[in-house]
Amino acid sequence: MSMNKVSWQSPSNIALVKYWGKKSGQIPANASISFTLDSCHTRTTVEWEQIEADGAPFHFEIFVDGEEAPDFRPKIETFFQRTAELLPFLPSVRMRIDTSNSFPHSSGIASSASGLSALSLCMGDIALQMGAVDEEGFERFCSILSRLGSGSASRSVYGGLVVWGQHKDIPGSNDSFAIPYPHHVEHVFSTYRDTVLLVEVGQKSVSSTKGHGLMNGHAFAEARFKQAEENMSEMIQHLQTGDLHHFGELVEAEALTLHAMMMTSRPGYMLFRPNTIEILEKVRTFRTEEKVPVHFTLDAGANVHLLYPASAEQKVHTFVEQELKQYCKDGRYIHDSVGGGPKRLTE
Ligand code: DP6
Repeated sequence: MSMNKVSWQSPSNIALVKYWGKKSGQIPANASISFTLDSCHTRTTVEWEQIEADGAPFHFEIFVDGEEAPDFRPKIETFFQRTAELLPFLPSVRMRIDTSNSFPHSSGIASSASGLSALSLCMGDIALQMGAVDEEGFERFCSILSRLGSGSASRSVYGGLVVWGQHKDIPGSNDSFAIPYPHHVEHVFSTYRDTVLLVEVGQKSVSSTKGHGLMNGHAFAEARFKQAEENMSEMIQHLQTGDLHHFGELVEAEALTLHAMMMTSRPGYMLFRPNTIEILEKVRTFRTEEKVPVHFTLDAGANVHLLYPASAEQKVHTFVEQELKQYCKDGRYIHDSVGGGPKRLTE
């Protein structure tokens, strides 16, 4: 019997206002907004066939870059446990999951966002074929699945600017699934570039999931959630007017606050490295001296994302090559752009 096949490419995303802390389960403590990237993506193929249910909740094999990858099983098992009700056909399918990233795993380039969204889009496609969801509800359904896999993944189901989490100034915003950003956005932001500077490649010392957990009972948690709410409102203004200076100031403040929350957790921890700090300082000096609108942001890791409009591309590329590359692990960095989105690879 031939296997059925679904295949998706789904990008990573970079948050401008960060999701850090959960109310309960996979419900965010505050709304967040991100740019979906393009070149940093995961490609996942699920080959599947129907089988007689045998009492087991799911049956799958997982291959990463063509090699069987048992280390990835626990994360995927958790995903299937959390999504079991939405995917009622799970016990009666057998799947072979093949996945590969365009960037290093666990490098802090939000590989869980692209990985879990790519898998969710594949599962959504199977759900379509099984009649568990219709075309109209497809993206929303996949965003819910993605959220259950990893919160930030809920935003990767759409291209462009994406919001996840209920916010008073964003109609339709919701804690369960992400939505495309609904307000006016100045044209300059559609030209934005993101250069990811790989300061450290490898497993992080503290996972994001654990970090979110440390926001429970955190001395500054309530102040942070209130600030994030206000920062979302402020972001709406900057996206509307195209005020790159204040936009960038806010983006950098969000990044530093994220890491400040980590440092002031109990126990506190640091994910940035000396080279991260070297880069942040160099970026600020370069911006002031050269008057180039380039700003940094950070995920929950040591790597730095540089955000800038296409008009600054040449200057920033030269700056990265001449002054920042030396702080990157093996001199590695990735030039990416915003405006990508997930792509179905099967007909
Ligand atoms: C720092 O989405 O990885 O990237 O929901 O526990 O899987 P889980 O966490 P995850 O958190 C990442 C948060 C962040 C900021 C952001 O993307 O908003």
